[in-house]
Amino acid sequence: MNIYEKIKEIGIIPVIKLENTEDAVALGRALVNGGIPVAEVTFRAEGAAGVIKAMAEQIPELTVGAGTVLTIEQAEEAIGAGAKFIVSPGFNRKVVEYVLGRGLPMIPGCMTPSEIEQGLELGLDVLKFFPAEANGGMKMIKAMSGPYGGVKFIPTGGINQDNLADYLKSDKILAVGGSWMVKPDLLRNRQFDEVTRLCLEAVEIKEQIR
Ligand code: 3PG
Repeated sequence: MNIYEKIKEIGIIPVIKLENTEDAVALGRALVNGGIPVAEVTFRAEGAAGVIKAMAEQIPELTVGAGTVLTIEQAEEAIGAGAKFIVSPGFNRKVVEYVLGRGLPMIPGCMTPSEIEQGLELGLDVLKFFPAEANGGMKMIKAMSGPYGGVKFIPTGGINQDNLADYLKSDKILAVGGSWMVKPDLLRNRQFDEVTRLCLEAVEIKEQIR
């Protein structure tokens, strides 16, 4: 199974901003125990590469990617740490080309027809749609799927247990991303059981649809 197939099967990507890097493995295990064995570790927090490395080395069943990758240097650092896929909020051609050149899946954020076409030009047909809710959510994705029927989206931004189903039931959606099960206060307070519970709840919603 390649990374895109894995992401599709899991259906939900936790978007992580972990300040306490020593909690990486506990958090990764909480996700796996919650039935969501994938993590997008964002470069919004210092030490993201260390978190990726610890998770990738110590939890082989977890597919670890990097998020909020804005520069080639960050992409290089993430790949060096063991990231299996790279996500960015916007479309930066240099970063996309670099990651594809290293042979990894790259999932850039594309909000407009022009950005989607730039992605298509580089051979991408899985794109992030960010920030999803603030930009029309499923309504916008459906409209854009008219001309770009072959594209699958990973909407992120404003998704939670209440609107998750609206996205997952569309065949235009590969998976959704979000931070609702890994909220900063949960991570700060080391409430990993609650992370697992929120993951299990999300998986149950997914399984009712897919
Ligand atoms: C991201 O980086 O993809 C988003 O910040 C996640 O959005 P959310 O916090 O609204 O889930």
